[in-house]
Amino acid sequence: MNISEFKTAGKLITGLGALKALSDEMARLSINAFAIITDKGVSASGLLDQVSPLLSTAATIVIDDIPPEPEITVIENKLSLLREKQIDGVIALGGGSAIDSAKILAATYDYTGKLSDLFGENTLSRRTLPLIAIPTTAGTGSEVTNIAILCDPKSQMKKGIVSHCLLPDVAIVAPEMTKTCPKAITAASGIDAFVHALEAYVSVNATPITDALAEKALKLIYNALPHAYANGENLSAREDMATGSLMAGLAFGNAGVGAVHALAYPLGGRFHLSHGMSNAVMLPHVLKVNAPFCADKLYCVAKQLKLCDRHHTKDEAVKLLLTAVEKLCRDVDIPQSLTHFNIPEDCVGELASEASKVTRLLRNNPKQLSVEEIEDIYRHAF
Ligand SMILES: NC(=O)c1ccc[n+]([C@@H]2O[C@H](COP(=O)([O-])OP(=O)(O)OC[C@H]3O[C@@H](n4cnc5c(N)ncnc54)[C@H](O)[C@@H]3O)[C@@H](O)[C@H]2O)c1
Ligand SMILES: [Fe+2]
Repeated sequence: MNISEFKTAGKLITGLGALKALSDEMARLSINAFAIITDKGVSASGLLDQVSPLLSTAATIVIDDIPPEPEITVIENKLSLLREKQIDGVIALGGGSAIDSAKILAATYDYTGKLSDLFGENTLSRRTLPLIAIPTTAGTGSEVTNIAILCDPKSQMKKGIVSHCLLPDVAIVAPEMTKTCPKAITAASGIDAFVHALEAYVSVNATPITDALAEKALKLIYNALPHAYANGENLSAREDMATGSLMAGLAFGNAGVGAVHALAYPLGGRFHLSHGMSNAVMLPHVLKVNAPFCADKLYCVAKQLKLCDRHHTKDEAVKLLLTAVEKLCRDVDIPQSLTHFNIPEDCVGELASEASKVTRLLRNNPKQLSVEEIEDIYRHAF
């Protein structure tokens, strides 16, 4: 057995009503004067009002306007605002955009360098403030990963900061927080979670631990997502999605994601397609190319999802899985083509050139892809 490390948040508190633990956790971490980082959609849906009575004291500062998929300048501005206050902790309430922002703000409160210098791996050596993350989408899994992603308008790319300092002290995953999540966000962030599990499962860095998490996550998300999408009030589907997304986060936070994410990044950076949507569009096309290089794993997934039985050959099972993934995207009304997003086909060369630079993710992929192969994948996505 190879040596491997397993990283996660300091403590996971999960289940309906898990938010009740918030004030005790704040006390344990000596959080008294703190910032809440959230966004307009989350506060308008009443979630901030739901959380406020559970805090041990009132927040010193509430930043409630983190935009979806934030740019680096947004975080620089928020950092200046935070530094005007004396705070001793950060609470993130929202989807990946709010949580990623809070992770960076908590880590860089007294960092004096430029944020753009932090893109890449292990560029941060400590986090200044304690951090509690409460996800409201299911989801990015950001509450348990050591990654924060920002848009860098200079290079028109989404870029990651990867560091153990970004792992929250506590993740509180209360499924009821996702009930107000709009349909389109339920769909896109749900497929993102499915891709996290699938890419972690076929990653060259997968371990028996990440495999177990990914397998369970795939089953939960595959079965629950259409129901959570059809009826957002379906609490049992929301619970399965919250657990599935958390497990997918734990899997990919350790095994990594691969080419689906690498090819999605330029679509987000250049054309502002949301993270979930760009992953969903690329998923079937990358999966087809990867299939011969991870056929055994995909056969296992097809069996776990009950798409095949012992009469099917491995090839047939993989085809059934591809069909099922396309149907899952259709069932949650995710467009299947880049044409739908008005992306010009003549930018395939530039997209491929950008994607090929995301070596941090491409090296996890079961098939090593050349720029020409990446171009081909984009072409098939039109
Ligand atoms: N750090 C990681 O490990 C990681 C992993 C995957 C994605 N990401 C990043 O996360 C971001 C995407 O996050 P996301 O998909 O969670 O969406 P998001 O945080 O961008 O939110 C999308 C929209 O949904 C609304 N919303 C969220 N939860 C809601 C709720 N319960 N009720 C009502 N409205 C709600 C928000 O207000 C926002 O307008 C991207 O920037 C992506 O790159 C990070
Ligand atoms: Fe993702």
